[in-house]
Amino acid sequence: MPTHARIENALRAALEDATGSGCPPRLQAAVQHAVFPGGARIRPQLTLAVARACGDDAPALTDAAAAAVELLHCASLVHDDLPCFDDAPIRRGQPSVHSAFGERLAVLTGDALIVAAFGVLARAGAHHPARLAPLLSTVAAGVGMPGGIVAGQAWECEPRVPLREYQRLKTGALFTAATRAGAIAAGGDPEAWAALGDCLGEAYQVADDIRDVAAQPEWLGKPIGQDLALGRPSVALEKGMDAALALFEALVKQAADAVPECRGAPLLRALVRAEAERLVPPSLRTGTPQRAVA
Ligand code: IPE
Ligand code: IPE
Ligand code: MG
Ligand code: MG
Repeated sequence: MPTHARIENALRAALEDATGSGCPPRLQAAVQHAVFPGGARIRPQLTLAVARACGDDAPALTDAAAAAVELLHCASLVHDDLPCFDDAPIRRGQPSVHSAFGERLAVLTGDALIVAAFGVLARAGAHHPARLAPLLSTVAAGVGMPGGIVAGQAWECEPRVPLREYQRLKTGALFTAATRAGAIAAGGDPEAWAALGDCLGEAYQVADDIRDVAAQPEWLGKPIGQDLALGRPSVALEKGMDAALALFEALVKQAADAVPECRGAPLLRALVRAEAERLVPPSLRTGTPQRAVA
């Protein structure tokens, strides 16, 4: 089955289990809105690609891991867009969840997606008990504290922010969880795959900072200029566009080099290169960056 279809099926199945009969209809609709249609689905793609490289001998567990990682990412976006965080009206080219359903349902939608992610892992892991505990702790580490998304977002509430650490936690940690979870789901060694997630995840947030300064909002499907407007730490704003682009290129190269030698390595290196091109296409690498709009 093509990767995209496999990811969408896994997500649909995970949400069917989570939003069974009796679920309040508006919560159900808000959860669907948060997950479909998706964005790039890069994190579950990574999980699947790593699992395939490790033999993918338990495909239902791989699907659950990929779905869990994407559900957690969607939850983080719903909460990140709330008025008390970035107050973003648009996400993935449509109204953000709080714009469409109100703040209370947006908070609950994020909560429900986080719980659903662990639920789908628990159900699939029951058939592979030896893999369940490491999967749960890897995924929890990517989203919780002290080293996951929650801790990363919390750096925004501190008077001084260590920029690379902030980026590593708020975005990189879930990429690391995505690659490690792919390995664990297929019985592989998660340590061998952690560096790929670390480097690609950090590259991803550097690209997000570049795009926030230089891209068109219609192309991104979300507002630009938010880092300047909200005073968020940003590599592009703090170090300048040239330094941000150089760091991005270096991290992408490190990510490609971090793919361990295995049968799936060429595919994974191609995925890294294609992502780099999609994230920061040549048109963004040249010319004077557009100034942010507040
Ligand atoms: C956006 O992530 C938020 C960041 C962590 C940079 P993505 O750019 O992966 O968002 P979608 O899933 O494609 O919409
Ligand atoms: C988001 O960071 C990271 C998350 C944990 C959601 P940003 O606030 O920079 O991402 P966008 O620009 O809203 O997608
Ligand atoms: Mg934010
Ligand atoms: Mg944001």
